[in-house]
Amino acid sequence: MEKQSKQTTRSRKTLRRIAVMTLFVAVAAMVVPLSGYVYVAVAQETEQAQTQPWAETNPRSDVWRQARQSTEGRSVIQGPGANVVMTSSGETFRQIRMGPLSTYAPWYLALMIGAVALFFIISGGGEKLAAESGKRVPRWSKFDIALHWFVAILFLVLAITGLSLLFGRAVLIPLLGPEGFAAWALASKNIHNYGGAFFVVGVVLMIVAWTRYNIPNGTDVKWLLKGGAFGKHLPAGRMNGGEKAWFWVNVGAGIIVSVTGIMMINPQVFESRELFQLNLIVHAIVAILWLGASFGHMYMATLGAPGSMDAMTKGHVSSEWAKVHHDLWYDEVKDQEFRAEDETRSGDAGRQPSTGPA
Ligand code: HEM
Repeated sequence: MEKQSKQTTRSRKTLRRIAVMTLFVAVAAMVVPLSGYVYVAVAQETEQAQTQPWAETNPRSDVWRQARQSTEGRSVIQGPGANVVMTSSGETFRQIRMGPLSTYAPWYLALMIGAVALFFIISGGGEKLAAESGKRVPRWSKFDIALHWFVAILFLVLAITGLSLLFGRAVLIPLLGPEGFAAWALASKNIHNYGGAFFVVGVVLMIVAWTRYNIPNGTDVKWLLKGGAFGKHLPAGRMNGGEKAWFWVNVGAGIIVSVTGIMMINPQVFESRELFQLNLIVHAIVAILWLGASFGHMYMATLGAPGSMDAMTKGHVSSEWAKVHHDLWYDEVKDQEFRAEDETRSGDAGRQPSTGPA
């Protein structure tokens, strides 16, 4: 009896085990194939994230969005805007610098060179003066000559280094290679910054020394309106209307370029990065306009009006040149006329005619 009940209990346990095993196998049979679907879905998502990274939402995108909107954080660096990681105005600045500025500036400079060349071809270059009699009149002092070449040479050095910094990546990397350009760009930056400081001194001295010769008057207006700039010989004093216009271009552009340049060497004066960027754009545009205008001056001083270079090299000019280009001034200084052989009268004798605007 007891033996029979033991057998019944054992067979029930066996049945329960069989039932549990059957259930396990049934559940496993349904779940295991599902894992295949999960695997395929994960694999597809990973592949999409790799081929279309933009489809992924960057969990840090809010942080970067805030940073771009000039949100302030904390920084150990001192100075205005030091706590701002980045500004979207930087991108706007980059687009102006790489877009319109880099596109129109070379065109403008090429156009100015083309205009000067065309003028040379049409006018046939500067006219020949009457044979020189050997009589000379003093025009510029040694100080004036030194000042002119100090400013002019620095101007050209600043133009070359400034343009190298602006267009170097596009123009010089293909020529010098990345390492060569890096070395040249570093040298350009230093020459531009230190040379700029000396140039400012030159511009100030030029304004102080030469303003008295360049006060505009009615004769200059007539000279400009009647086409003096196109080679017509019209009455002119010590400086004609064109030279006075060039002088005032130098004063205006010189002040703007000098002030914006000094400010950039001292960036702490800017209240924001946007003002710094605006300042740089103004500096570059005015400097490039000034450079283009200087081509006209260089042409007139060399090919356009033969004999002019004597003024800024020897300090005196032939009486024939003076009569043709500055007749009213010649009448004032003809009593200082001297023979070319008598070189001792040259140079600082040029101080004599500084009798004010003529
Ligand atoms: C490198 C080429 C240059 C040459 C060959 C040159 C030549 C001359 C000459 C010959 C004169 C005397 C004109 C006269 O007595 O009637 C003169 C005057 C002058 N130059 Fe230049 N120059 C050059 C570059 C520059 C540059 C780059 C600047 C300014 C950044 C400049 C500014 C002046 C000024 C302000 C005057 C006096 C005009 C006045 O007082 O109205 N020159 N130049």
